[in-house]
Amino acid sequence: MTTRFYDFKVQTMRITKLCESKDIITINKMFPGPVVYAQEDDRVIVNVTNETPHNITIHWHGVRQRLSCWYDGPAYITQCPIQGGQSFTYEFSLGQQKGTLFWHAHTSWLRATVYGAIVVHPKTGVPYPFKYPNEEHIVILGEHWVRDVVPMEKEVLASGGGPPPADAFLINGHPGPNYNCSTNDVYKIHVIHGKTYLLRIINAALNMEHFFAIANHKLTIVEADAEYTKPFTVDRLMIAPGQTMNVLVTADQSNGRYSMAMGAYMSARNITFQSIPAIAYFQYTNAAVNSFTKSAKLPSFKDDLAVKTVMDGLRSLNPVAVPLEIDKNLFFTIGLNVQKCKSHQPSKNCKATHGGVLAASMNNISFVMPNISLLHAYYNKINGYFSEDFPGVPLNSYDYVNGAPNNIPNDTQSLIGTRAKVLDYGSRVQLILQDTGTVSTENHPIHLHGYSFYVVGYGSGNYNPQTVKLNLVDPPYMNTVGVPVGGWAAIRFVADNPGVWFMHCHLEIHTSWGLSMAFIVKNGKGEMETLPHPPNDAPKC
Ligand code: C2O
Repeated sequence: MTTRFYDFKVQTMRITKLCESKDIITINKMFPGPVVYAQEDDRVIVNVTNETPHNITIHWHGVRQRLSCWYDGPAYITQCPIQGGQSFTYEFSLGQQKGTLFWHAHTSWLRATVYGAIVVHPKTGVPYPFKYPNEEHIVILGEHWVRDVVPMEKEVLASGGGPPPADAFLINGHPGPNYNCSTNDVYKIHVIHGKTYLLRIINAALNMEHFFAIANHKLTIVEADAEYTKPFTVDRLMIAPGQTMNVLVTADQSNGRYSMAMGAYMSARNITFQSIPAIAYFQYTNAAVNSFTKSAKLPSFKDDLAVKTVMDGLRSLNPVAVPLEIDKNLFFTIGLNVQKCKSHQPSKNCKATHGGVLAASMNNISFVMPNISLLHAYYNKINGYFSEDFPGVPLNSYDYVNGAPNNIPNDTQSLIGTRAKVLDYGSRVQLILQDTGTVSTENHPIHLHGYSFYVVGYGSGNYNPQTVKLNLVDPPYMNTVGVPVGGWAAIRFVADNPGVWFMHCHLEIHTSWGLSMAFIVKNGKGEMETLPHPPNDAPKC
């Protein structure tokens, strides 16, 4: 076990993209931010000093934070934000986790620019389950707005409408030649014919899911959310914000230049939508200077089938420990709704978290961020900031056990509130996530903090326990699942990590609208089942 130290200085940096200059928030004036490299079993210590006036926190997305909930990072859930001039040191162990994950800001919409990769190599001497490639590269997908994202969030919430689409998609911070003034703002991977490359693909985008493809080259997925998968070869993949995938690519084409493209997956049926793909180059080093460029073909933005193909192919490589018996059977609706309340005041009758029109909820509760950390309130038994009555089934009493067909789940009767669902230590949980599609049918990448979970099933329409067949043999072990458009996903996990764990849609606008909730996992009996004391330097609200 090695301890890896990192110094993260939160700093502003001036960048020019699409002919426009702006200041963005970064870590160490790097965009994307610094890579955290470690090895399985290592301890990671990151000292974050905030040199900007913006409140910030950093979340280690996908790191399970076993017995270290205090360092998970979501603002107002496990900690108060680090204010300008303050610092906070994150400390956690990786345990047996290895693979590609990422870190990002977890306050307002700052993760639009504050993100970077986490690369955890296997222990020395432990081989990869595939022939180790000649080289590895990190490929982070992002979204860029010419405007500042922090005021944009406030305006979008006040306006009642949806967020403006990104002005550009980015691959490792570069939009590529499809955009204005961006002919030279292109990321390139130089490759040699016959060699194999491992791409660590991370979707760090804010508000949209994406397709990714390389012209004329196959992608073999070998890992998803930092867990090995059975190798699965595709022409293109869909990766949702919050997901990471390792793919192998063999440079087996004639010398030339091949585009790597990132385009939108929207899945909403009833809209027309246009976006420009970001382009990077997979460039053979021996290609003549003016040799051809082959363009990658992306699916149409509403190609649900292309998404299903990728989901169907994700299977755990190794034997899995999926719980076969269930102690807690939960059913959560997720979706957007049109709120009727114009008040900012929390009240039982108000159906919104903000002054706009669109809202979102889980089980008819539109989540309201408290103004202290939930973990702090829970740990110190401070009353008045949250309640422990998050419903285990939708409030509109959909009978999911019998699949009551006349009472389909919906989000039209949502309340606002800061409610948590309490789980006993060690309980084996099955959670059905049902997209209700009341306002628009939209795919929701649902991310759970503090855990990975087995994705044991998914499908279109309403979940029906009578007909469904779950995969209890080789389900993928993920931290973010794209719940299909107007469909459902079933996940299982064992609640063996005490603390307060946020669960939310990784499309940031949906979290802002309230598509989130928190689990409280109680302590067990032993020392290794108990959340330790809070850190001394924890920021105050
Ligand atoms: Cu990557 Cu709560 O998020």
